[in-house]
Amino acid sequence: MSKTFEQFLSEQLTAGVIDQQLVNLLAAVAQLSKQINDKVTNGALAGVLGAAGTDNIQGEHQKKLDVISNEIFVRGVQWTGSVSGMASEEMDHCLVTPDAYRRGKYLILFDPLDGSSNIDINAPIGTIFSVTKAPKGEISDESFLQKGRKQVAAGYVMYSAQTILTVTVGKGVYMFTLDLSTGQYIMSKEAVHIAPSTAEFAINASNWRHWERPVQRYVQELLEGINGPLDKNFNMRWVAAMVAEVHRILCRGGIFMYPKDNRDPTKPGKLRLMYEANPMAFLIEQAGGRATNGYENILDIQPTKLHERVAVFLGSSEEVHRVTTYHI
Ligand code: F6P
Ligand code: MN
Repeated sequence: MSKTFEQFLSEQLTAGVIDQQLVNLLAAVAQLSKQINDKVTNGALAGVLGAAGTDNIQGEHQKKLDVISNEIFVRGVQWTGSVSGMASEEMDHCLVTPDAYRRGKYLILFDPLDGSSNIDINAPIGTIFSVTKAPKGEISDESFLQKGRKQVAAGYVMYSAQTILTVTVGKGVYMFTLDLSTGQYIMSKEAVHIAPSTAEFAINASNWRHWERPVQRYVQELLEGINGPLDKNFNMRWVAAMVAEVHRILCRGGIFMYPKDNRDPTKPGKLRLMYEANPMAFLIEQAGGRATNGYENILDIQPTKLHERVAVFLGSSEEVHRVTTYHI
């Protein structure tokens, strides 16, 4: 198997699945991810570890690599002629494509560096992106408030022992591994499929006392294993980077949960709907899994603000269905 990402894009273009602007945009994302990968790989040698000394709009302390990756992403896509605007977890408001460049028919949203707490300990991190059509007229924050169902492409790049680009353009999920000797992304998995049943879950259990009753009930049942109502033993994993959790689930199934909790009633969950939940839900659904906020499908949620947060339950369909029924 030696199909490059560019060949894949060309085939999708020929098949009429995507257009030339989307080809150019996705190719640019693949290119810029190699620049981020270079910073990640060189770590201390590139001077990119540690805090940036600034906070993002959500009051989170930014790491140097959050800020650097955001700059690389913006510079990597703004010139393509494919986007009219960009929105990032690390920018207060959207960025309209500068006048120096042609405005395209798409918008791109991204989390430039997911799993920031892993940066300084050399654990897995990633970049997540989501592409929608740009509405007609002037681009503003409101232009980005589209349901996840409207995405035309989404994916992530995982920086770990291997660097892997995973993408969907609405016709299945494909993975590409970065060949370090040639600098090319080579297809390493196609027709990714998540089995409906699983015996593995992921949740930050230190938040137990803050969870709502349905989540406590479900996790209690998972822990009871063969002695409880689920009648089977479960294993647990927590990488603390959503990219890595979703990647594991796409590879071998599982359920990932970041529920709403009562630490801060103004925040319905920790994860961001537009930069994290929507693109991951699109990938998971395309691989035959499910993604809900405990009540409704993530992709059917109408966003009301750019940096909206949401509870997330995603992965193998049987378990996501079970925890969702406990809520309703
Ligand atoms: O982007 C938010 C994030 O870093 C996710 O990637 C990850 O799943 C989660 O937060 C980790 O949260 P916690 O700090 O509770 O382990
Ligand atoms: Mn993130």
